[in-house]
Amino acid sequence: MTTYKIALLPGDGIGPEVVAEGKRALEATAERSDFAFDFVEGLIGGAALQEQGDPLPSSTLELCRSSDAVLLGAIGDPRWDTQPAEKRPERGLLGLRQSLQLYANLRPARIYPSLLAASALRSEVVDGTDLLIVRELTGGLYFGEPRSLTGNLAFNTMVYTRHEIERVARFAFETARKRRRKITSVDKANVLEVSQLWRSVVQEVAADYPDVQINHLYIDNAAMQLIRDPRQFDVILTGNLFGDILSDEAAMLTGSLGMLPSASIGNLTAVYEPVHGSAPDIAGKNCANPIATISSCAMLLQHSLGRSQEAERIDRAIAKVLATGYRTKDIATPGTTTVTTREMGELICMTIKGEQI
Ligand code: IPM
Ligand code: MG
Repeated sequence: MTTYKIALLPGDGIGPEVVAEGKRALEATAERSDFAFDFVEGLIGGAALQEQGDPLPSSTLELCRSSDAVLLGAIGDPRWDTQPAEKRPERGLLGLRQSLQLYANLRPARIYPSLLAASALRSEVVDGTDLLIVRELTGGLYFGEPRSLTGNLAFNTMVYTRHEIERVARFAFETARKRRRKITSVDKANVLEVSQLWRSVVQEVAADYPDVQINHLYIDNAAMQLIRDPRQFDVILTGNLFGDILSDEAAMLTGSLGMLPSASIGNLTAVYEPVHGSAPDIAGKNCANPIATISSCAMLLQHSLGRSQEAERIDRAIAKVLATGYRTKDIATPGTTTVTTREMGELICMTIKGEQI
């Protein structure tokens, strides 16, 4: 029997609560399959700073490198807010992305029909939305040098090389071929040189994919179009900072930031995590929405383990539990039943195992 080694990095805030439910969902999936999981926990973010004075201990990095996949919770803790950049929890996440060269970040936003009422937009605008943001994750403004903060002067640099743009663009085009074959590349080519290079490299790559439709939007227009008519999008390809912003925006279309999963992929171990943050205000209250994490586990099964059937089983279980009327607080609407983090996880596990809920 195959045993997959999964690194669990719960992190901060609600991270441990949602990762616990993701782990249970994976275990439930394995129960009816011909494989097993070996879960090993590691420290990252504020939790790692607390224990070891380092947001990304080398032992965590080694654990990730030797695992088949990484499931991460959330990172960020206001207790470290006043620290310099290198002593902040976020450094752990950024360091992980860089060390594992996770250049392609996939953030799908799908609307569950039963959640239409929870969307920030009118149902007729969001109904049928099914888009995927492909965010470049190891370059751009987040990592560009030089960077500095001294006295009253601070700066960062948005850098992209041809190589960095090309590899994420190819990833997006390959992915689009498995979807509706449409890519919208988002940049700010009317102002930024880095975006001019971005656009021309994306156009070159597009020439190799004549079967995929490509168009280009400026980031400001894209942010507006996402609210005006989200159904027009299939794959959105963009850089690190723009992708960060657009993915939070896309999350609200689906009703809650608590719904959006993500996969960060490179040539080494891939990392799966909910798009939401550590939500310190609700940490430890057993009310966080575990669906983004459980849905990230479906992406893990699909992309890292090639277990599409099991991935679909998780996705179907989530849809069924929602359709039956169960909601965590963040997506509750009149007439639905509000459940805790733990209960939501349990309902999804039971459904995965084919039990009646
Ligand atoms: C995300 C988060 C991170 C980012 C933070 C926590 C560093 O917002 O994954 O979207 O900006 O990439
Ligand atoms: Mg973000």
